[in-house]
Amino acid sequence: MTFHSRNKPVSLEHHWMPFTANKDFKASPRMISSASGLYYRTHDGEPILDMTAGLWCSTLGHGRPEIAAAIAEQFNQYDFAPSFNFGHTISFELTDRLQAITPEGIDRFLFTGSGSESVDTALKIAYAYHHARGEGGRKRLIGRMRAYHGVGFGGLSVSGLTPNRTAYGAWLPSDHLRDTHDLARNAFTRGLPEHGAELADELETLLKFHDPSTVAAVIVEPIAGAGGVLLPPKGYLKRLREICDAYGILLIFDEVITGFGRTGSAFAAQEFAVTPDMMTMAKGLTAATVPMGAVGCTAAIYDAVVEASPGGVELFHGYTYSAHPLGCAAALACLDIYEAEGLYTRAAGPIGKALEEALHSMADLPGVVDIRNYGLVGAVEFKPRDKPGAIGTALMKQCWAEGLMVRQIGDAIAVSPPLVVEDKHIGEFQEKFRRAAETALG
Ligand SMILES: Cc1ncc(COP(=O)(O)O)c(C=O)c1O
Repeated sequence: MTFHSRNKPVSLEHHWMPFTANKDFKASPRMISSASGLYYRTHDGEPILDMTAGLWCSTLGHGRPEIAAAIAEQFNQYDFAPSFNFGHTISFELTDRLQAITPEGIDRFLFTGSGSESVDTALKIAYAYHHARGEGGRKRLIGRMRAYHGVGFGGLSVSGLTPNRTAYGAWLPSDHLRDTHDLARNAFTRGLPEHGAELADELETLLKFHDPSTVAAVIVEPIAGAGGVLLPPKGYLKRLREICDAYGILLIFDEVITGFGRTGSAFAAQEFAVTPDMMTMAKGLTAATVPMGAVGCTAAIYDAVVEASPGGVELFHGYTYSAHPLGCAAALACLDIYEAEGLYTRAAGPIGKALEEALHSMADLPGVVDIRNYGLVGAVEFKPRDKPGAIGTALMKQCWAEGLMVRQIGDAIAVSPPLVVEDKHIGEFQEKFRRAAETALG
């Protein structure tokens, strides 16, 4: 089949697609040609319900005219301005706005171009912080099994997904907590699991093993997303906070997925009432309309690095696209929409419950071993058949054939719809997913 872009035929061979089975995809492409609201359209015009908000990022659905207008207006005013040694006011407007919605205490922000860059930036700030305080020996980082922190070498070192690391190694000194997925005790939990807070105590064991004075930071996703929607057991994050405090170690929440309303609060830190020292953001910051990320940190971290500096550049770090004006304009338009439409807390209301009901109604499908959910994110996990991931892949493809975009993670299917999802979309998801599962599972 020949595909066209802007009326010209295109070949498929030159594009090396990311995190994709290239040969398989090119043999049978799933090609998108337009998007509006909660629907994509395929190249032949078939609607596809977007139950994943793209890659957990199109939090406002697709094609919001307010965002387009804000980007266009900014483009006409100034399309780009450097933020090394020069400033432009829109990024300062955005940091004022971020300060107002992030947890109390998180009030200094740096901008990046993506979640991966945000993670690597946060890790570097942790190093810079300890170095500035005369504790430059703190270089070890603690991550968690099944974590995803993007694809930079820093993020890889703390990530816990083997295939992402296999060819590349993990170059920063690191160690990993166990993941919090406990099917034996927590299967089919709605909301936070009851069991497993004690898994956080393992942090103390790791710290003692490595010598806590060599550890810079602990980084976790409050809800592990790309590792399979793994929820923190009740009390787990609070315990991590206490242990970090006891040993002078920074706690970083990677809120690239959980930020901007996914859990029912603006940030998971607020939802779970645990404030980290740093938090990473991206995705929902601009609802994916312009690539952009950010790192928020405490004034204590900023002061240790910046105020205590003898002068000159204090942090040798930044990106050409840090605080890109078009990203800032998009982010401000998104924040306006989140606030005007009450979207930070919408996931905690009836729509979150509707998604929960829809997901848990799948319990009778053959081979389901777990269903879990929180706010507007959830997953249905199947028992592997033949080889790991085979069921997940078959289901993802069959969902596409039914007009439904879902995210495959091994043999789990994750959903994270745009925050503006409505009951009718959830009903459509339920119908299409069941049909797809019945076909794919035979
Ligand atoms: C928790 C988390 N951190 C970091 C990233 C990396 O973000 P990006 O793909 O924008 O680099 C992701 C992406 O899914 C993520 O889920």
